[in-house]
Amino acid sequence: MTSAFLALENVSYRYPDGSPALDNCSLKVRRGSRTAVLGANGAGKTTLFLHLNGILRPSAGQILCDGIPLDYSRVGMRKLRSLVGLVFQNPDAQLFSANVREDISFGPMNMGLEEREVRSRVEESLVAVGMTRYADRPVHNLSFGQKKRVCIAGVLAMHPEILLLDEPMAGLDAMMQGELMAILGRLHAAGITIIIATHDLDFAYGWGDDAIVMEAGQLLAEGAPTEILLRDDVQSALGGTPFVAEITRQLLLIGIDLRGNEYLPRSRRELLLAISALATDTKQERTL
Ligand SMILES: Nc1ncnc2c1ncn2[C@@H]1O[C@H](COP(=O)(O)OP(=O)(O)O)[C@@H](O)[C@H]1O
Ligand SMILES: [Mg+2]
Repeated sequence: MTSAFLALENVSYRYPDGSPALDNCSLKVRRGSRTAVLGANGAGKTTLFLHLNGILRPSAGQILCDGIPLDYSRVGMRKLRSLVGLVFQNPDAQLFSANVREDISFGPMNMGLEEREVRSRVEESLVAVGMTRYADRPVHNLSFGQKKRVCIAGVLAMHPEILLLDEPMAGLDAMMQGELMAILGRLHAAGITIIIATHDLDFAYGWGDDAIVMEAGQLLAEGAPTEILLRDDVQSALGGTPFVAEITRQLLLIGIDLRGNEYLPRSRRELLLAISALATDTKQERTL
């Protein structure tokens, strides 16, 4: 295996009140991957993200980026924050400027970039998230989904190589979720490594190249979602199986093997396509 882009080595962390949040946790994220981080509430997903961009520092163990331990000096942190962008679960925790353009320019300005470069990055980020029309709007007048997009733009303006999104689908309607997926698809195609914390098994199964499953601050499993999300221990930690995997398995029990197609369906859409392709084949066989 090529060396990990980001890695945790035996990381433990306790919040100041003593609550254990990460417990001897080791895991890896591959460069260029779409990685889903799964785990029940309180499993440590948010704490993990706060470590990956240096907001929190391990009580024990270490975090490596490209094989090199994180540098917690001011300069090191500045570099890390522009390399690893974090989009918080709650946009109100992230946005603080009066208007959209100002908020997005905060990050690149803090990086000490020239004004012209800042302006061009802000415009490019507004385009990337489809928010150009709202550039001069007050942040507090935006809808939840629009605020989420401004948060993503603010991070993109730093030109990160890794984007962490903490439960980005929570609170978005189906249409907005679709739009967000399209935005993330374009960013991934442009080479950005995307790591999403979620407890949505169906989403992780359909979207992730890799999945990381956490339980009580520890790594329970890591690997291809189509493999690890079917494991019994993972199912009991996450309280279920992905819907598409379950249907595929049930169909197999009655003799219908969807794996006969070129690939295993991973989303509802692919499942329906596989079933209707099979139905067409069966009909054709009957008429012959
Ligand atoms: N600010 C905090 N102070 C004390 N304990 C916290 C704090 N944030 C999270 N925790 C605790 O740390 C553990 C991991 O939480 P978190 O990382 O938020 O999990 P997740 O994002 O998977 O729901 C939980 O037991 C939680 O109660
Ligand atoms: Mg969380």
